[in-house]
Amino acid sequence: MSNNLLKGKRGIIFGALDENSIAWKTALRVHAEGGTFTLTNAPIAMRMGKINELASTCGAEVIPADATSETDLTSLFTKSQEILGGKLDFVLHSIGMSPNIRKGREYGDMNYEWYLKTLDISALSFHKVLQTCEKLDALNEYASVLALSYIAAQRAYPDYTDMAQAKAMLESIARSYGQRYGTKKKVRVNTISQSPTRTTAGAGISGFDVFFDFAQMMSPLGNASAEDCANYIAVMFSDFTRMVTMQNLMHDGGFSSAGISIALVDRLSK
Ligand SMILES: NC(=O)c1ccc[n+]([C@@H]2O[C@H](COP(=O)([O-])OP(=O)(O)OC[C@H]3O[C@@H](n4cnc5c(N)ncnc54)[C@H](O)[C@@H]3O)[C@@H](O)[C@H]2O)c1
Repeated sequence: MSNNLLKGKRGIIFGALDENSIAWKTALRVHAEGGTFTLTNAPIAMRMGKINELASTCGAEVIPADATSETDLTSLFTKSQEILGGKLDFVLHSIGMSPNIRKGREYGDMNYEWYLKTLDISALSFHKVLQTCEKLDALNEYASVLALSYIAAQRAYPDYTDMAQAKAMLESIARSYGQRYGTKKKVRVNTISQSPTRTTAGAGISGFDVFFDFAQMMSPLGNASAEDCANYIAVMFSDFTRMVTMQNLMHDGGFSSAGISIALVDRLSK
């Protein structure tokens, strides 16, 4: 089903690694809604993933860029405008990685070089994207810039370790840059806080299946899927949400407002 919600809009989608990625589902949805875009990912992910498959389905060009490199980002935003034929209307930052989580380090045994890498890749890169856009004047008025967050920015989750700080910082950057960019050029900046989702990044967190099931039982609507998230992103890229900015938008089936659910009471009473 398509409503041509994004007809005539141009953008960049970061972070499509494989068909489970939230960015992958988003690319398919944005394409179906009439948007045009370039796809990008870290050069190393190009070799591991299947982004070219997605690119041919969507008629998109792929431009490798490490989101922590200002040089790569400048080249990405310059080339994307050339390819797409003008300034951009949407950007999805769908990027997260913690070397500490990858290597199984506990929160009391952090490697601080890796900790800084987590913050650089998963949060500071969002600032770099926004600053690059501003310096190049790459965005149209009412352009929508989105990053993906997780509720561990507000609540403690033992196995999410340094990613919790990265998400708190990411949400803070959306507020601070949203204020600046909104005032200067009516650009809006938001984060979407998504339910646990079975992707490479999600499933890399130890105990993922347990907190996926827990969130599923706690949320009145159940967990939001990657497809649901892609639909929400399309709406956030559209003109129907042009006054929404500086928000962390919960996309979690109601999880964040629930105290306990009947399903969990029943389970724990046994
Ligand atoms: N999966 C979940 O449970 C969940 C829940 C809430 C939020 N999120 C967030 O959603 C976003 C997308 O993750 P996903 O679940 O689709 O997993 P994913 O593993 O498919 O995507 C993560 C992407 O980040 C990219 N990346 C890593 N380092 C990079 C770098 N230096 N430069 C550019 N790209 C880089 C990876 O190549 C990958 O494509 C992340 O921010 C993640 O934290 C995920």
